[in-house]
Amino acid sequence: MTSQTWNAASYQENAGFVPILGGPVLELLGEVAGQDVLDLGCGDGVLTERLQAAGARVMGVDASAEMVAAARKRGVPAEQMDGQDLRFDARFDAVFSNAALHWMRDQDAVLQGVFRALRPGGRLVCEMGGQGNVAAEVVALHQAAAEFGLDGAALHPWRFPSPQEQGDRLAAIGFTVQRMELIPRPTPLPTGMYGWLITFAGPYTRHLPVERQEPFLRRVEAMLAPALRDQQGNWTADYVRLRFVAERP
Ligand SMILES: C[S@@+](CC[C@H](N)C(=O)[O-])C[C@H]1O[C@@H](n2cnc3c(N)ncnc32)[C@H](O)[C@@H]1O
Repeated sequence: MTSQTWNAASYQENAGFVPILGGPVLELLGEVAGQDVLDLGCGDGVLTERLQAAGARVMGVDASAEMVAAARKRGVPAEQMDGQDLRFDARFDAVFSNAALHWMRDQDAVLQGVFRALRPGGRLVCEMGGQGNVAAEVVALHQAAAEFGLDGAALHPWRFPSPQEQGDRLAAIGFTVQRMELIPRPTPLPTGMYGWLITFAGPYTRHLPVERQEPFLRRVEAMLAPALRDQQGNWTADYVRLRFVAERP
């Protein structure tokens, strides 16, 4: 399976805003008490725990063993599983996913698995990176990759679909799309661009020897400063979210 390497402590420190900003997506789920809900790409389980507190029978799945362990530590049931190879059949009333789907390269496989996992009448409520998400970071990462002898395009780990593309994909699988929005969301970075890169740029840095990793990230940071750092030294990332709700008829 596709596994993911994440550091739960670094995620909490540098990206604790991710589940916090996922709150409005949770609300889109509506009533969950007594329902079976899958949290796809649950990470360390912050939002899974909230679903459980709201009375859902939850299950979290994530490709990272460390994130699954962190979620279990919170007291939510979680399993290591590739979202591109979900192994559930008509088991859930809802599938929820925040900030995870764009890490899965084969979107068709993910959404087909979600369709199978839902009971008829079940809903998918998702927020992920959408078209244009972290565009400046992607360009800088690819420029730095070229300078450090890496093929940025080949390493690019994310899929940031447009509303049209994701809507067509969902419809082709058989979903009824109830809502689809692209939401620009400039996002302050609590630990700056370097902290963000430490947490999210692993798919690039892991191909460099350890001693070249910091120079690589500093080069990316320097390229981004004129665009994303203000005069006080605060960083804001150019997040764009794709938020959608779709039902299995
Ligand atoms: C940015 S975190 C979001 C975690 C959580 N949903 C939240 O809101 O905090 C992305 C998560 O997606 C998971 N992920 C990436 N690729 C995956 C895959 N193919 N299958 C399942 N999980 C995956 C990562 O391991 C990581 O925990």
